[in-house]
Amino acid sequence: MHKSVYDIIRMKKDGKKISVVTSYDYTLASLCDKAGIDVLLVGDSAGMVMLGYENTIPVTMDQMCMFTEAVSRARKNALLVADLPFMSYQVSIEDAIKNSGKLIQAGADAVKLEGGIAMSETISAITDIGIPVMGHIGLQPQTTMLSEGYKVQGKTKDTAIKLIEDAKELEEAGAFSIVLEMVSHEVAQIISETVSIPTIGIGSGVGCNGQVLVVQDLLGMYEKIKPKFAKRYLNLSEEIVKSLENYKTEVESGIFPAQENWFSMDEDEFKKLRE
Ligand code: KIV
Ligand code: NA
Repeated sequence: MHKSVYDIIRMKKDGKKISVVTSYDYTLASLCDKAGIDVLLVGDSAGMVMLGYENTIPVTMDQMCMFTEAVSRARKNALLVADLPFMSYQVSIEDAIKNSGKLIQAGADAVKLEGGIAMSETISAITDIGIPVMGHIGLQPQTTMLSEGYKVQGKTKDTAIKLIEDAKELEEAGAFSIVLEMVSHEVAQIISETVSIPTIGIGSGVGCNGQVLVVQDLLGMYEKIKPKFAKRYLNLSEEIVKSLENYKTEVESGIFPAQENWFSMDEDEFKKLRE
């Protein structure tokens, strides 16, 4: 049986840190799950790392459902959370519930949406019908047009207080955990001590109850943006390009394929054929 939202909530109570990575496809998700990662997040960052968009705005429900289905076929152990993409939950609570349901039918155990106090009614409505919600405050990539762009959140007293209020409101609304994106580490620590649900940080310091990274960042295979918080555990893009160059050279020189890579006819049949 895979992990449930209660297992994740319990980890905070037991003082265990929660590991989260994004996942979008069957192959990588299988490896993340095998590694024992606690939560696989089908993030709308898929729009950037899988589809090559500049940001997450163009991502559609259909795309999120496709990624979620692929990851759900791979996961055995982790909890599976899927992002509600831009404009799939903001217009009406009806939309939010309907689209949350689609992600659950695609195989997610819970949904995630961006927003603080303004989203609390929506979060209550989704959890009321039995779908667990992960909140997401601090930097909110779907709405960076309104803010000052990709900047650290909660650097001043007033913005810090607002973030702490947002977090309390999300807990009150029934969220089972909250992503804190690029929140100053002091504020992230305070929020983590204030709310009883787990906080999952990205660029928000070690005081959070868990951490999340985009898997392509962690593996060093996405070259376009390299944020300071995205620690690279591998330089996979270099390894991949090197391997592909080797393959090309071997194809051109005839080293590949070799005998162990091809198949033969039955010897007798081959003789008959030659007669
Ligand atoms: O879409 C995403 O990858 C996310 C995480 C960075 C939290 O929302
Ligand atoms: Na996201």
